[in-house]
Amino acid sequence: MREKRVCRSKVIFNQVVALVEPMDLTENKFLSIGLLFLGTLVFIKFVSAILTPGSGRKRLPPLVKAIPVIGGLIRFMKGPIIMIREEYQKLGSVFTVNLLNRKITFFIGPEVSSHFFKAPEADLSQQEVYQFNVPTFGPGVVFDVDYSVRQEQFRFFTEALRVTKLKSYVDQMVVEAEDYFSKWGESGTVDLKYELEHLIILTASRCLLGREVRDKLFDDVSALFHDLDNGMRPISVIFPYLPIPAHRRRDRARARIAEIFATIIKSRKCSGRAEDDMLQCFIDSKYKDGRPTTEGEITGLLIAALFAGQHTSSITSTWTGAYLLKYQNFLSAAVQEQKDLLKKHGDKIDHDILAEMDVLYRCIKEALRLHPPLIMLLRHSHSGFSVKTKEGIEYDIPKGHIVATSPAFANRLPYIYKNPDSYDPDRFSPGREEDKAAGAFSYISFGGGRHGCLGEPFAYLQIKAIWSHLLRNFEFELVSPFPEIDWNAMVVGVKGEVMVKYKRRKLSVE
Ligand code: HEM
Repeated sequence: MREKRVCRSKVIFNQVVALVEPMDLTENKFLSIGLLFLGTLVFIKFVSAILTPGSGRKRLPPLVKAIPVIGGLIRFMKGPIIMIREEYQKLGSVFTVNLLNRKITFFIGPEVSSHFFKAPEADLSQQEVYQFNVPTFGPGVVFDVDYSVRQEQFRFFTEALRVTKLKSYVDQMVVEAEDYFSKWGESGTVDLKYELEHLIILTASRCLLGREVRDKLFDDVSALFHDLDNGMRPISVIFPYLPIPAHRRRDRARARIAEIFATIIKSRKCSGRAEDDMLQCFIDSKYKDGRPTTEGEITGLLIAALFAGQHTSSITSTWTGAYLLKYQNFLSAAVQEQKDLLKKHGDKIDHDILAEMDVLYRCIKEALRLHPPLIMLLRHSHSGFSVKTKEGIEYDIPKGHIVATSPAFANRLPYIYKNPDSYDPDRFSPGREEDKAAGAFSYISFGGGRHGCLGEPFAYLQIKAIWSHLLRNFEFELVSPFPEIDWNAMVVGVKGEVMVKYKRRKLSVE
């Protein structure tokens, strides 16, 4: 095949030379030089086509029209979802946008995004595109290490989040929720968004960071995490080390958090005391070669867990509440489920009882379909590959492109979800199951495939523990307008306050 191509290029070259030869060079010198130059160019193009097989036959995705150099960036900055919506209409499910010197190719819909989710790391990797997390998570963990080490570290996550561990986390989640809401009065008005954010920080502290932080150092560590959080700005994605005040505060906070955890880890190891939390799991984790995790790695993995799970879960709890308070029919169904479970189990809540809350599960899942906090997932392509759209058009995606998919857009595709913009938890009920009907990767709020969220069960348990407590103990009324989406946040959430009036009432089983 290669020999055949070399021969073809030789033929072309000879044809060009043959064209030049019969001419009188002295008579028409410029034309001859021009033809020779053109022939050389054609020859070079053929040689490069041979060296990069297939590049001459590329069916590249359509390009988003924009002013050269900065046009793509301007479109993107106006709002990625607006751009995706407009271009999906015009160009279909695969298209490329030039973003300064990078090409981002979007895959929209399960037919094309399946390669995004399933491709091996050697083809599509996260490391380059998620590098901006390194100063926050710290050295030696996640996107600062090779894939083989990262895989091992994700194994530590998997072990820390297995069912036996989740069972003990649930007990702690329930205690935190009971304790938190016991401080509310008989009735009152609160910002639900603020309250749920606060409760989730407390729960995450207990289950993930450990008792020492939750009981003794909560205020200090919360303030440090706040600085770490504020150090992750849109600009940090492009310039993570830019010497701006927010980055300097982030770096100081990261160093102090490392000191605090080094002390806690040493003290646990010395005392031989073991706790039921993620910190303990990471202390006990070992790499394949038997090496134990270092204090720095443990701290970095805990920070990564908190960043992955805290805002995402609190945002989802708030949307769930806002929708339940807006749609009385779904609220009544969720309350009825609580009554049924009270009849069956009394007022006890544990992992297995939470697992029975299917109605509440669907209410949360639907809030998350409409409002996935991670609106864009990215990969870097290390080798060319092709994708086929559902219309049967095939595109070649070159090596070096950034490949993106968008849960916020793909979760609302009208050929998958009926009335995609309306809140309808029953779309996931047995018999309908709209997310399954269109195949894998139709619902991607938790990503999927090779890098699917490891914390999904934890997140559902936490949100169910909170909402089952609220539904059993309070009546609510939404008194501010239904919230809007805060597109400017890094983790896209709820804009402004979500004011609710509450009144204490014990759910009666009659
Ligand atoms: C509602 C809550 C949550 C949402 C919406 C969410 C969403 C996601 C998404 C979309 C991804 C895939 C990212 C990608 O493909 O680039 C992901 C990955 C991940 N999530 Fe979550 N997440 C949530 C909660 C959590 C929690 C509570 C934890 C841990 C305690 C967690 C830990 C992780 C980890 C470790 C990964 C990386 C998996 C891998 O790359 O192999 N997440 N999450």
